[in-house]
Amino acid sequence: MKHTNIFRNRLFAKGAAVLAALGVLLSAGCSNQVVEPDPDAASSTEPLRIAEARLSPTQGNNVEGVVTFVEEADGIRVFADIRNLSTSGRHGFHVHENGDCSAPDGTSAGGHFNPTNEPHAGPMADKRHVGDLGNLDSTDTGDATLERVDEYLSFDGEKSIIGKAVIIHAGADDFESQPSGAAGPRIACGVIEWVQQNAPQ
Ligand code: CU
Ligand code: ZN
Repeated sequence: MKHTNIFRNRLFAKGAAVLAALGVLLSAGCSNQVVEPDPDAASSTEPLRIAEARLSPTQGNNVEGVVTFVEEADGIRVFADIRNLSTSGRHGFHVHENGDCSAPDGTSAGGHFNPTNEPHAGPMADKRHVGDLGNLDSTDTGDATLERVDEYLSFDGEKSIIGKAVIIHAGADDFESQPSGAAGPRIACGVIEWVQQNAPQ
């Protein structure tokens, strides 16, 4: 499975504790079951809470992939591994407020997740929607990967992204147009669900 390979490669440099915990994650395969931590891998740097969104294409598209969210001390590390995008394009990438991908065009996911009532902006802006993750840049084969730690995302409280939706758009987010960056139609959607939710002690 391609996404797990990239996830493993990206995490490789982050140390043995992370790899030990990732082994627990990978052993869960594609099921949604919550896995127990390996007591031998216990460490203050182990990612204890992990969530993911498995993206499905909206009607008329075939974009798919996985976005993984790993809790760290400074925020949530986001890994995206997406395929079947346009070739060499930019695609708006957001967390939307409703964990509902049932509409054929993805509009059931609602607007950008914005619990703090801020304007739409780019991911590095001082004020932005919590869900403003920027753009994915696709390669000449239509694949896109991204890895970045985001300080705005949370697994707790009003900013929690659990149960919200990840949306990818046909066009680029301009980081300015309100309320959503003029990124065009929604081409993929997936609900953010727990993979591993062992809260820090
Ligand atoms: Cu969006
Ligand atoms: Zn926004």
